[in-house]
Formats: sequence, C-alpha cells, structure tokens
Amino acid sequence: MTNTKAVIPGSFDPITYGHIDIIERSADRFEEIHICVLKNSSKSGTFTVDERIELIKESVKHLTNVVVHQFSGLLVDFCDEIGAKTIIRGLRAVSDFEYELRLTSMNKKLNSDVETFYMMTSTNYSFISSSVVKEVAAYKANVSDFVPEHVAKALNKKFNK
Ligand code: PNS
Repeated sequence: MTNTKAVIPGSFDPITYGHIDIIERSADRFEEIHICVLKNSSKSGTFTVDERIELIKESVKHLTNVVVHQFSGLLVDFCDEIGAKTIIRGLRAVSDFEYELRLTSMNKKLNSDVETFYMMTSTNYSFISSSVVKEVAAYKANVSDFVPEHVAKALNKKFNK
C-alpha cells in the first residue's frame, strides 16, 4: 500500500521554525500533508485556534501540497475522517521520547491501522519549542531566529499590548 497522505498534528501555539522544518521535509516525501491543530489537554492556549490556523497558513503558503485543519476530537478520528494512515511527529531530544512514546502507544491502541513516523528535528532547531519562544517573547526579547516575522509580530502583540 502506498502512503500518499500524512497528518502533522500539534498544538502549534504558535508555529515555530522547528515545526516548519518538519512540515517542509515531510511535504517533500508525501503527496499531501494535512496539518491538524488539536487540543492538548495538559496545555492552556495562548493563541486562539483561529489565530494559530492563520499563523500556520501564512507560514506554509509556499507549499502547494499542505492543507491546514482544526479538529476537536481524537487525532486518530481525524485520520479516519480524511483517510490518512500516517502521522508524522518531530523529535528534538531524548527528553521528548517518553511523551512521544505515550502518545504513539495510545494512538496505536485506539487505531492499529495508523502508524506514527518520527523525524529528527534539524539540529539548528532542536532547542526551540513554542513554550520557550513565548517565555522569551514575554520578556520582550527578539524571537526572529525562532519564528517567522509574522509570528514574531503576533507574539509581540499578544505580550506587549
Ligand atoms: O504539539 P503537542 O501539544 O505536543 O501536540 C499534542 C497533540 C495535540 C497532538 C495531542 O495532545 C493530541 O493528539 N490531542 C488530541 C486528542 C487525542 O487524540 N489524544 C489521544 C492521544 S494521547
């Protein structure tokens, strides 16, 4: 069976160069990439889902095979809904591993048809996370090395209003 569709799920609160690295490299390997903004019950959101979607769309507008969605249920149900059997996640460091193992094992239990593929984040971005970028932005530091310009502007607006 050929794999043409892959889902890149996450909170994307907000999207960073780390996410974009994984999205661009995946878009080179799969015919269709479906980015899905989902709820992570252990995180409280900074940006609304609509704001996150707008920031993602602007960040991936150069990629013709990438579509952006939001979904309020289980990730495996979203995969079912669009007929995707592959999830892609980025792995930054060993510290990500335990969390990712739990996520993937649960998804596998919920739907054994869906496989999760992991890609190592490029080393330039391996220390970047949305939460660290927000923390830095909250102290009015320059975040333009970590997120695209339009995301940096949105962060400034959110924290320095
Ligand atoms: O970017 P994140 O916060 O690490 O992404 C986590 C996310 C949103 C992919 C995960 O929390 C998720 O899949 N949420 C939807 C609900 C779900 O399917 N939970 C079952 C797996 S534990």
